[in-house]
Amino acid sequence: MHFIQHKAEARWFYSVVSKGYDRWINPLFWTAPMRDAALELARLDDPALEVVDVGAGTGFATEAIVGAVVPERVTMLDQSPHQLARARRKRSLEAVEKLLGDAEALPFATDSRDRYVSTGSVEYWPDPQRAVAEAYRVLRPGGRALLAGPLRRTHPIARRLSDAWMLFPAEDEYVDWFERAGFERIERVHVAPAWWDEHWDPYAVAIAGVKPRAGEPSLALAPAASGDESGAVTPARLARFAAGSLAGAAFIPVALWFSVRARLRRLRA
Ligand SMILES: C[S@@+](CC[C@H](N)C(=O)[O-])C[C@H]1O[C@@H](n2cnc3c(N)ncnc32)[C@H](O)[C@@H]1O
Repeated sequence: MHFIQHKAEARWFYSVVSKGYDRWINPLFWTAPMRDAALELARLDDPALEVVDVGAGTGFATEAIVGAVVPERVTMLDQSPHQLARARRKRSLEAVEKLLGDAEALPFATDSRDRYVSTGSVEYWPDPQRAVAEAYRVLRPGGRALLAGPLRRTHPIARRLSDAWMLFPAEDEYVDWFERAGFERIERVHVAPAWWDEHWDPYAVAIAGVKPRAGEPSLALAPAASGDESGAVTPARLARFAAGSLAGAAFIPVALWFSVRARLRRLRA
């Protein structure tokens, strides 16, 4: 189903969600310790690196990137004008270039960046393999790509809801996308918010790889699908958007409950 794994629907989704994104979504689902553990794999070890943050949203990951890299050398790209508008309000991101664009067709030259970062965006991409191939294409040889995203749920109710919402890939799919694109020296780490029980299935993964040589990826991709990404409102699309958004919204009370429970347990311990 993956009702919001579509470009127009994801844009609609973020025209609403951007209002509470920094306040409600990241503190519950994508926390600073998770972000920092994921970004370790990007090896931001030189302030002069040229970095692109794809699906950068309100700039939560970008804020950490500009802690390590000169802001003028960082570019944020997102397809949601609402999310980028929030990023424009942040002083720490003033000097960062902000571009409206699509993860599956990056507006950058081949071999032009040192690092590619994308956190929490893959779940909305209709064709993740195409986007990972784009990550490969825009990197210089020796450049490193980092992709972080959720993992397929195994609890039956969570699986149904997550599948109705968007793409929750299996870990092997992330590895396949990277290997097929041509990345080498692939590394992975699992990340989860503090309320996630360590005995549950892995919550999310960050995966990184290095581009070994200059040029385009060698994998053959089918021509890009010419789906209706115009955003034309039809009853069917509205129904899909509503069903996907409701399924996504169901995760908020669940996460709140586990978050409160984890805090109470820590206080009692
Ligand atoms: C969950 S937010 C993550 C934002 C940010 N990376 C962070 O770490 O907080 C997902 C972002 O991906 C963006 N997005 C979804 N599909 C996209 C696409 N095809 N191209 C570019 N951005 C996309 C959304 O607009 C949204 O801002």
